[in-house]
Amino acid sequence: MSPSDSTLTSPPGPAEPVALGVDPQSLVKLRALQSEYGDVVAVKSPKGRQGLFINQPDLIHRLLVKHHDKFNKGPGFERVKMLLGNGLIVSDGTTWRRSRRMIQPAFSRKQLHKLIDMMHKCCLNRVERWERLAQSQEQTVDVTREMNDAGLELILRAIFGDDYDNSIVTDGKNPFAFLSEDATRDLRVVLQVRELRSLILKVIEQRRTQPSSSDYDFLTMLMGQTDKEGVGFNDKELLDEIITLTVAGYETSAGTLNWAWHLIATHPEVESQLLSEFEEKIEPDAELDSNLLATLSYMQQVLDETLRLYPPVWLFTRRAVTAFTLDDLAIGEDTDIYISPLVLHTTEAHWPNARDFDPERYAPDKTHQVGLSLPFSLGPRRCLGEYFSFLEMKLMLATLLPRFKLRPQSDTRPECELGINLRSSDAIHLNITPRAT
Ligand code: HEM
Repeated sequence: MSPSDSTLTSPPGPAEPVALGVDPQSLVKLRALQSEYGDVVAVKSPKGRQGLFINQPDLIHRLLVKHHDKFNKGPGFERVKMLLGNGLIVSDGTTWRRSRRMIQPAFSRKQLHKLIDMMHKCCLNRVERWERLAQSQEQTVDVTREMNDAGLELILRAIFGDDYDNSIVTDGKNPFAFLSEDATRDLRVVLQVRELRSLILKVIEQRRTQPSSSDYDFLTMLMGQTDKEGVGFNDKELLDEIITLTVAGYETSAGTLNWAWHLIATHPEVESQLLSEFEEKIEPDAELDSNLLATLSYMQQVLDETLRLYPPVWLFTRRAVTAFTLDDLAIGEDTDIYISPLVLHTTEAHWPNARDFDPERYAPDKTHQVGLSLPFSLGPRRCLGEYFSFLEMKLMLATLLPRFKLRPQSDTRPECELGINLRSSDAIHLNITPRAT
């Protein structure tokens, strides 16, 4: 039963319009709105559209989980659409439901465990590079660049399997490399991504005539799925989903690892606890399989805390497709909802000493209110790659940290750059030395 109109309250908010988007000024505005008006704020866009900025964990949880079907993706996703086409991140309604059902099997734990050997090889490639860097005169590693390159290679191998070496990389050149080299997501990058489409299409055509022998890569999985009518993805759909997985799959994990290296390098007490955990749980030369990775609980805490402080998807939106009420809150049709994991995770009332890096917040005996940690969103549109990204991030740290000691080059705290994703505004360079074996 919904409350009568007289019991509905209108959240407080500024009378003047507020323009919100994935830009640094919006973070300043959202923080100011939260401190002036609280955790549910009514905002009007410059075009007169009604919006709500919601920073209340329980309400966020209910909107994204129980009431997810009353929303489509909201403002800002048009920009993402230019890059990703109508792939899983941006699609809505029946198109999204069909795609999600068809892509989900590729992300089952059983299926993802088949990727661990490949992932580990990508991490071991970094060991060779880092040994050279540690022995060089500069003894410096650009972890931003390293994590971007490693993350891109890893996701492309996960998508294309053997075709990564056979058809994607030619003469040692990776045509996707501009994605990790160019941090902007402007029109130039959109056009470069469009050029990749013909290359991906060529691989798809080859696969249609001669299926791949590997049973693990995402392309094989996606091409093998059909919907309830027995219809598979057509070429355009496959292209959009492949581009989506490429972009969604490397930037976010690579960005998180970038911050994790910075935080570990600047918190030696956290580093020694991680090293003790490795020593206790990983025998020298042990195979890093899923069971072993699952035992690295302190590393999980470190990654959770990194994602709290630096959630790559720092702001996302929804638009109500229908009017409804939630307790005493009326949400009109077409209302835009703004949710910022970054603001939520750094609000003092929710997280005391919110700016401090403290993995103990996620210790196994601590429980958190639902909706308080939001790096992967919640509900049916929660990130599909969450488990994949933890496998990748744990493998990267477990392979490199016992071999190399990283330390900051100065006391300067890296700044955040806020675009579609949160990144470090400059590359993070750290001093690197080999650990005594
Ligand atoms: C640290 C790593 C990652 C973070 C923090 C992250 C975060 C997110 C968030 C917040 C969303 C939901 C956005 C919204 O609701 O508007 C999302 C969706 C998605 N992510 Fe991730 N992501 C990560 C890694 C990955 C990886 C590795 C992949 C693929 C290999 C991936 C694939 C996707 C896809 C396909 C969706 C759309 C799901 C749907 O709408 O059904 N993500 N991600």
